[in-house]
Amino acid sequence: MDKLFITGGKPLRGEVYISGAKNSAVAVIPAAILVDGPCRIENVPNISDVKVLADILGELGADITFEDKETLYIDAQNLKSNVATYEMVKKLRASYYLMGALLGRFKKAEVSMPGGCDFGFRPIDQHIKGFEALGAKVEIDHGTVKLEAEKLTGCQIYLDVVSVGATINIMLAAVKAEGITTIENASKEPHVVDVANFLNAMGANIKGAGTDVIKIKGVPSLPGGATHSIIPDMIEAGTFMIAAAATMGDVTVRNIIPRHVESLSAKLIEMNVRVEGDGDYVRVVGSDRIDKVSIKTLPYPGFPTDLHPPVAVLLCRGNGTSTITEGIWDSRFQYVDELKRMGANIKVEGRMAVIEGVPRLSGAPVRATDLRAGAAMVIAGLVAEGVTEVYNVEYIDRGYENLEAKLKGLGADIVRKKG
Ligand code: EPU
Repeated sequence: MDKLFITGGKPLRGEVYISGAKNSAVAVIPAAILVDGPCRIENVPNISDVKVLADILGELGADITFEDKETLYIDAQNLKSNVATYEMVKKLRASYYLMGALLGRFKKAEVSMPGGCDFGFRPIDQHIKGFEALGAKVEIDHGTVKLEAEKLTGCQIYLDVVSVGATINIMLAAVKAEGITTIENASKEPHVVDVANFLNAMGANIKGAGTDVIKIKGVPSLPGGATHSIIPDMIEAGTFMIAAAATMGDVTVRNIIPRHVESLSAKLIEMNVRVEGDGDYVRVVGSDRIDKVSIKTLPYPGFPTDLHPPVAVLLCRGNGTSTITEGIWDSRFQYVDELKRMGANIKVEGRMAVIEGVPRLSGAPVRATDLRAGAAMVIAGLVAEGVTEVYNVEYIDRGYENLEAKLKGLGADIVRKKG
């Protein structure tokens, strides 16, 4: 297992280019299963989650190749299998999109329950409710979700919770259903819009993505033949913005959609960090005084849960007591014990982290307990005095393209040692 060695105390300076969005790519790639012709996906992030998913599509029988580092050619016309085994999906949470895509394509699918980041119970009841409303029989047997429908028929679904995964999965299953499907209380995340744009470019008829009511008019086939470019990764962008502020640096984060990081920009400004942006970039200029703030993570356009652990590190530098209330995941606090080992003063009360600013963090061996907790450990290492060793780097590799190379480009002292 690889380790990262970070010598802290160097302000990040310069420009960084953001890759395509992980959470969009991991939905668009399985969506290609529904396309009845070839398609090309550009701006695909070079991360292990994408490689795992590309291998799964290949094993199912798709013709899938990287034309270059970030362009994926997929032709799933000859897909022969509708079964995704545990061996195939165990490394990937987003394997749940195979359910909607395979059901939509074959009206029958078997997908082992997903793996991925571990921060508490991650239910899929809303996905299943959607599949059943479309006419599928769903059975969970020995950890495998078995789905079967004589036909899929458009319907109205009200999601009990705003779920990114359920919204996209229902969209995938409904795209070729007969009639109109309406998803109410849908997720408004940018990657929901991206998946809808991809499917529409291939011949689907989806309206309202990006609002809380999505209407999908079923089409008999998706002829494909189009090219789609994945949107920039707002969580990667946010991670660099936070790292810039935490190290009192000056970083221009390029190739982003500034609107997607607005909830973070607003909080950084409230903390006394300078944020300027226009067109496709945001510049973050750190400050030696970080004001205390209260944050609550919420579905988009609220503050993203995936930036909770990274922003907690920045608030360790705050004047006084800040709070982060977790509004999405019950147990996203595993990063706290690791940060405490570096001198952080954080208490967890229910779903709230109470963060007391400290004069300094000191380097220590720490573990990435999940992808975003891993990013937090890296930022903590950049801020801390001395050397921080980050273990379990494979979590970070799941979702950040070349994190250490990009940080090195900004002047960080970070070295990977192969394990
Ligand atoms: N929920 C249910 N039932 C469901 C589905 C979700 O109760 O059937 C609940 C969850 O327990 C949670 C909330 O609804 O409390 C939101 O879950 P959601 O379905 O939106 O999450 P997800 O689709 O499993 C995606 C991202 C996560 C990100 C969340 C929230 C992908 C592949 N993953 O997960 O990203 O934290 O949305 O924004 O898109 C990450 O990138 O590190 C990551 C974990």
